[in-house]
Amino acid sequence: MADLEALRSTALAELSAASDAAALEAWRLKYLGRQGVVTQLLRGLVELPVEERRVVGAAANALRGDLEEALAQRRAVAEEAAMAELEAGQIDVTLPGNRGLVGRLHPITQTLREMLAALTQMGFQVAEGPEVELDYYNFEALRIPKHHPARDTMDTFWLDNRRNDERFMLLRTHTSPNQVRFMEGNQPPVRVAVPGRVYRYEATDATHQWMFHQVELLAVDEGISMQHLKGTLTQFAQALFGRDRPVRFRCDYFPFVEPGAEVAVECGLCGGKGCRSCGNEGWLEIGGAGMVHREILENVGYDADRYTGFAAGFGVERIAMLRHGIDDARHFYANELAFLRQF
Ligand code: PHE
Repeated sequence: MADLEALRSTALAELSAASDAAALEAWRLKYLGRQGVVTQLLRGLVELPVEERRVVGAAANALRGDLEEALAQRRAVAEEAAMAELEAGQIDVTLPGNRGLVGRLHPITQTLREMLAALTQMGFQVAEGPEVELDYYNFEALRIPKHHPARDTMDTFWLDNRRNDERFMLLRTHTSPNQVRFMEGNQPPVRVAVPGRVYRYEATDATHQWMFHQVELLAVDEGISMQHLKGTLTQFAQALFGRDRPVRFRCDYFPFVEPGAEVAVECGLCGGKGCRSCGNEGWLEIGGAGMVHREILENVGYDADRYTGFAAGFGVERIAMLRHGIDDARHFYANELAFLRQF
């Protein structure tokens, strides 16, 4: 009888420590299951003499009944707690979901990719060149020698404070050095587009930045003429600005081309009449171009009597601004998400 009372208190103590359905089921198996302590005990009663069996049997049966009832109570409490927890954490399907953060391409990357897509469709391959460049490729080989006034139009970031010597290094001021680099490494026919960053030592304002992007174009083959230049660049500009957009070529000077031209598209806002955004011009410049100077062909070892070529350079920021109506180039590199998310 004393054993039964000890068993009751151990079992009840364990029961009150079991708090979830799994623990309660483990407890039931331990005490009330077919191999359980109480079940075994009841089976063992047959060993006892008849007198004792009656007394102890009644007490053991009462113990089983009490434990079953205690279990049922604990189960009810645990179920209620589990239900309350579920209700508290209920999924409200009317709540707005968590929007995943999706990245996107920078507007300059987008414009650059569209420019290259238009060019590769016309048969141009894409190549790249170094941003840290030799004076030789950036100036000298492009017929811009020391003291040439064209150097003043491209204020230069020099490395090591050593400047204006063909051996010295700088941050390239344009992508044109890749005309020379590409021709040095490849024989004609050449059709190549070279995108990349360029640097100019300038004060920053709405239209000037110390770093921007250009795409250089070069086509060299037998019989390339100004007509190919105009046709190719018109098709390129219209791929970016629409097939009806007028494109204009006017004389301009660059030491590495002859003749040289500036390329402009009609202002999209005023349709050529002249407005504030085009400075009353009716036209917006998007790049420079020209027929590759024969001295440059000769310097890279091309037969300049057999081959001719055209080259062009386009400003990517400028084109992105015109296409999207952006009035200040500083937006591109200010890292303002409100601006960048519009593209
Ligand atoms: N490199 C010139 C510039 O940055 C543009 C240009 C490229 C002009 C090719 C003619 C031919 O101003």
